[in-house]
Amino acid sequence: SAALPEGYIIRPLRRSDYNTGYLDCLKVLTTVGDIQEDKFQERYDLLASRPGSYYILIVEDTIRSRVVGTGALIVEHKFIHNLGQVGHIEDIAVAKDQQGKKLGLRIIEALDYIAEKVGCYKSILDCSEANEGFYVKCGFRRAGLQMAHYY
Ligand code: ACO
Repeated sequence: SAALPEGYIIRPLRRSDYNTGYLDCLKVLTTVGDIQEDKFQERYDLLASRPGSYYILIVEDTIRSRVVGTGALIVEHKFIHNLGQVGHIEDIAVAKDQQGKKLGLRIIEALDYIAEKVGCYKSILDCSEANEGFYVKCGFRRAGLQMAHYY
């Protein structure tokens, strides 16, 4: 796969990314809320205490030291399919002014690489109809139907 544009890197989320705009980046997706640094770190530590389950990547604009894109892979450990593992791709977000530079595609490629490497037999995700074309370009195809029960 091709590289990121010059000046951008992709790397795992760090505990210090509270101060590089990670939560701001997620705001293109949905409501984030007013999260204080100690609560951010507490959640980060919880995810880090479950090795092999949470892989959160970010794209950093290294000139500005800002998070401009992110995506997560959650690995589900099953009994079926001979103790199979399924990757769940979640919370893909690219800052509004950075969209269209293939950053989203590179995030998905990186998450796919991890999923395959850690032994997932597939990765799945839910998205709106408006994003279907993006995921098709990333190699996904429509499969099944999402249902939700909100509490
Ligand atoms: N519909 C059809 N094609 C699209 C769309 C779309 N909505 N978005 C991008 N593409 C195409 C691009 O044109 C490009 O095609 P090309 O290779 O022919 O040039 C290809 O998909 C790759 O596009 P990128 O430049 O990598 O896309 P970008 O970096 O802008 O990221 C994303 C796409 C993540 C959907 C971004 O627009 C975004 O953050 N949107 C708001 C948040 C959001 O909706 N996130 C996804 C939620 S679903 C989930 O998280 C599982």
